[in-house]
This record gives sequence, structure tokens and C-alpha cells, in this order.
Amino acid sequence: MVGLIFGFLLTALTFDIPSRAAQGVVKIQPVRVADGESRIKWWREARFGMFIHWGLYAIPGRGEWVQWNEQIAVKEYAKLADQFQPSNFNADAWSELAESAGMKYIVLTARHHDGFCLFDDGANPFTSVNTAARRDFVAEYVKAVRKVGLRVGLYYSPLDWRFPGFFFPDLQRQSAEAMREQYHRQIEKLLTNYGKLDVLWFDGGEQDWLNFGGEWFIAGWRRRPQGQQYKGGFSWQHDKVYAMLRRRQPQVLINNRADMPEDFHSREGDAAVGDFDDQHPWELCTTIAGAWGYEPNKLPRPLKHYIQLLVNVVGRDGNLLLNVGPRPDGQIDLPQAERLREIGAWLRRYGESIYATRGGPFLPSNYGVSTRRDRTIYVHVLKWPEGKLLLPAIPAKIVRASVLTGGEISLTQTDGGIELFVPLAARKEMDTIIALQLDSPANAVQPVRWSR
Ligand code: GLC
Repeated sequence: MVGLIFGFLLTALTFDIPSRAAQGVVKIQPVRVADGESRIKWWREARFGMFIHWGLYAIPGRGEWVQWNEQIAVKEYAKLADQFQPSNFNADAWSELAESAGMKYIVLTARHHDGFCLFDDGANPFTSVNTAARRDFVAEYVKAVRKVGLRVGLYYSPLDWRFPGFFFPDLQRQSAEAMREQYHRQIEKLLTNYGKLDVLWFDGGEQDWLNFGGEWFIAGWRRRPQGQQYKGGFSWQHDKVYAMLRRRQPQVLINNRADMPEDFHSREGDAAVGDFDDQHPWELCTTIAGAWGYEPNKLPRPLKHYIQLLVNVVGRDGNLLLNVGPRPDGQIDLPQAERLREIGAWLRRYGESIYATRGGPFLPSNYGVSTRRDRTIYVHVLKWPEGKLLLPAIPAKIVRASVLTGGEISLTQTDGGIELFVPLAARKEMDTIIALQLDSPANAVQPVRWSR
């Protein structure tokens, strides 16, 4: 009977699952402590990483939410594990691809909302170690990523759709507590058995995500109104996880999706590039071809799209985490891999204007964005005005100007601003990068915006 009601309510839920943005559950809890500043240094400099969504859901090929979206019964979905024997899985190929794309870190879904683990979780039957594959993919991945010298990240979802307690944390308290026990245990395993981790990327662990961000009332389920939080009696006890995490791996960076003091904040999707923010470290995650988990025949967009996206993110002082969803056999679709290599080729030529830079000092505007490092400001012109490009004044002297992407430039600097002229032939469609050498450190210049 309980199962019947549960099934019915779950079906009732399907018509209105709120998006993160609509729920308004994103909370900013910046870490302002000194050790936070030092542990995030490498990440700030890295600027570009690879996200990998891979698991059983690659088999049906309809995205990582397929179980939920199609309301596939837990037992039915679990049968996918019998078929999961990725014959072409090669963690070296993944990490070499990321490396050749100019990415500096990778984040792999150790476990998504479906509950299937790509790592060894002891007696838990729902892992790649205890089912057909008989492999610890996380172990292979960590080793391969380290081998090419990239930083290692793991994505982990505290929530698990197999537990009714996620949907009814109060009615199904025992189940919710079992889910919590699993979460604490698995995080400890990940932090203990795989050496040093650089990023733990949480998803769906916010208190407000319980009940899928809604609440049950007499006539059914409704989205929790803006600003109103989960008030039930269940707690994830994230504080215990946080203490254990900092004790075991003080260096590991975490995002904001599990109500713990965050090292960086996640923005999601191309449309969420958002505002310049050099106060709270942030990262935009998005997909290379419109899907997180594998969907067949998804083609990437033209190279220009990714270069401009990366530049727009870095110029706003953020990182870009670009996702691929490998096939069930472990391979990344060729057109996506090719696009990634093209991005890498561009970065090998112009990486000095991306890596280890900070956004600014010219704030993003119609022309594009700027980045800076040492005594250089890189102006990334993404859209040219017809004649000269005018930029606001800065309290530093420009001693030399050049076009990194090739060609001539003339420049005049006055108290009123900076005028740049680059002939049409040297204006690049993707990004014209102008390097301005200053007589003093570029990071000392306060961000400036045209006031008019
Ligand atoms: C979205 C997707 C989720 C994915 C996440 C990555 O929230 O629903 O499946 O893991 O984006 O940020």
C-alpha cells in the first residue's frame, strides 16, 4: 500500500520538477578564511576543466535523468548494471584528451542521483565493482589523471532516487537516515581510498532539495515558495561530513551544493555566465553538446562558441568546466573530441591571456572582456565597433601595446581614457587579443566600467 501511494505520488511529481534557478535554492556562503585563499590558488590559475557525466544512464542514452524522467522502476533500472561492461573504457584516453584540450582538471561523476557507484563501496551491490564490469573506474581514473599531471575531481550526489526518504524525509525517516548513512560512508571512502583529491563537486545535497525542493500538503505536492526553506526534522548532518573532509583532506575544494562552507560557487549552463565577480570564486559548468549524460548524435557547436564562452567566463573572473558524456562503451564521441583538441590548439597559442589571469580591470561590456596577469592587461575584443575602441581610463601607464593574435595597433592614452585602433585585417572573428604592458602590476588596478 505504501508502495502504491509512493508510486502514485512520484508520478504526480513528474509534471513539475523545478529547475535550480526557479527554486532559488542557490546560496552564497563565501569562504573568507586564509587557508581557503591558499587552497584555491591552483584552481584560480587553472581556469578550464573537464566535467564527465558517465554511468549506467549512458546505456539508454537519454541523459543522466532518464530514470526519473521516464519513471523507471528502481529494480528495472538496476538491471542496466548487468549490461555495463564498457569495453573501450580507457581513463588514459580521457585524461590525455583533457590535457590536449588545455584543461587543467577533471571532475568525474563518482555517483549521480541514480545511486550507481563507479567506485568500490564494499558490500554495496550497486557499484561497478560488484556488477558486470567488475572494475573500480574511479581508481583507474584517478591514476590516469595524475599521470598526465592534471588535478583530480569527483562529482558526488548525496541524494539518491532509490531512497523514498529523499522524497519524504519525514514520513520515510528511516530511509532518509539510511541515505544519509550511505552519503557519509561513501564520502569517507572517496576521501580515504583514492589518494589526494583536488575537488569534491557536490550536487543535490542542499537541505532545500529534500522533497525535490517542494513540500507535501493536503492536496498534493507544491513547489516550496521562494525564500521558504525545508522545515522538517531530517538533516543531512553536513557539518559532520565537513569536519571529516577537512580532517582527511584539508586541501580539497568543494562547491556550494551541499550546504557546507564553499570554496567556490557553481553557475550552470551557457545562459548563466552572469556578472563579473572577483570576490567569490565561481565556476560555470556547461555541456559541449547539450547533454550531461550521453545522448547519441549530439554535435558540438562551432569552435568560436567555446572560445568566446571561455573568454567571457575568464574575463568575469570565473572558471569553465565543460562537460562531455562518454558513450556506454567509455568512448567520447569523435566530433566532440575533435572540438576539444581545437580549443586546446587555440589555448596553446593564446593561453597566456587565460591561464593564471584574473578578470578585469575593464569590466565586460559590448566590446568583450579583459584579463590580466603581472604587468599585462589582455583586452579580448569579441565585437568591434566600426572605428576605434574606447576604454575607460586607468591609473597606470601603458608602456607598450601589441596584438597577440597578430597585426598592427595604434593606441592613445589620455586622462579621459584609452583609444585603440586595429585595422580590419587584424580583427579576428573569434577573439582579437590586445596585450597592454603597464608600468606597474595590472592586478593593482581597480575594476573600471564606463560610467556613461
Ligand atoms: C544539472 C543536471 C544534473 C547535472 C548538473 C551538473 O543540475 O540536472 O544532472 O549533474 O546539472 O551541474
